[in-house]
Amino acid sequence: MKELLITKNLVKRFGGLVAVNNVNIKVREKTITLLIGPNGSGKTTFINVCTGVLKPDGGKVIFDGKDITGYPSHKIYELGFVRTFQIPMPFQTLTVLDNVLAAMRNPGEYPIKALMRESWEKYEEENIKKALKILHRVGLDEYWDKPAYTLGGAHLKLLELARALATGAKLIALDEPIGGVDPAFADQILSYVRKLKESLGLTFLIVEHRIDITVPYADYAYAMDRGRVIAEGKPQDVVNDPKVIEVYIG
Ligand SMILES: Nc1ncnc2c1ncn2[C@@H]1O[C@H](COP(=O)(O)OP(=O)(O)O)[C@@H](O)[C@H]1O
Ligand SMILES: [Mg+2]
Repeated sequence: MKELLITKNLVKRFGGLVAVNNVNIKVREKTITLLIGPNGSGKTTFINVCTGVLKPDGGKVIFDGKDITGYPSHKIYELGFVRTFQIPMPFQTLTVLDNVLAAMRNPGEYPIKALMRESWEKYEEENIKKALKILHRVGLDEYWDKPAYTLGGAHLKLLELARALATGAKLIALDEPIGGVDPAFADQILSYVRKLKESLGLTFLIVEHRIDITVPYADYAYAMDRGRVIAEGKPQDVVNDPKVIEVYIG
């Protein structure tokens, strides 16, 4: 299977702190790849450097066979690699449907389409249909007309996932998709992610702190500690690795 994301000796420093220290990771297509590690181990920084939110200080990021090192995040987004944020921040007063529509590419941005009103309207109608389909895929269809601020934490996480789908991305990085969510809802969120992988062939890179819940859904795992990868392999093996146990307990 193809490797959709490869990092080669990726480095990110904050002053004297090496937050990401020569990280080599591969995310194969149509997998859920899990990145675990204690707080402050560099997981979020790693995702930020990969998706262009932060510029790396060394190494390479290869996405879908293309060297994207140092690309701005909107360029990486256009190529089909997006991240969702740790704290879901959709537009609170917009409806669930509008939040998904806002995440889609706006046809009004293309001058010719904007002039051809008829085709633009058709495009809009198609977008609405597409957005409703996406909401159905994450179990939010019955909430389509509710303002985002009325949603609970788990539903907000699902809305973030829906917005990532709306971008048409092939690779979606989820930073703590079940953070602060009750275990029953957490399983539901991860089940939707697995279904999206299976039915749409999407690829996910999941950063999680709560490994007990996430491990059964993952195909492959990496563990980080103090900026470095300390273990990789089958998720259950990584979790049982003495080095990993030590950093979590110690
Ligand atoms: N913008 C920043 N400026 C300075 N230090 C940062 C910044 N972001 C993260 N760090 C530091 O980098 C390390 C890794 O942080 P982070 O990537 O958020 O870890 P994780 O997501 O694994 O909890 C931590 O020591 C954190 O304090
Ligand atoms: Mg983090």
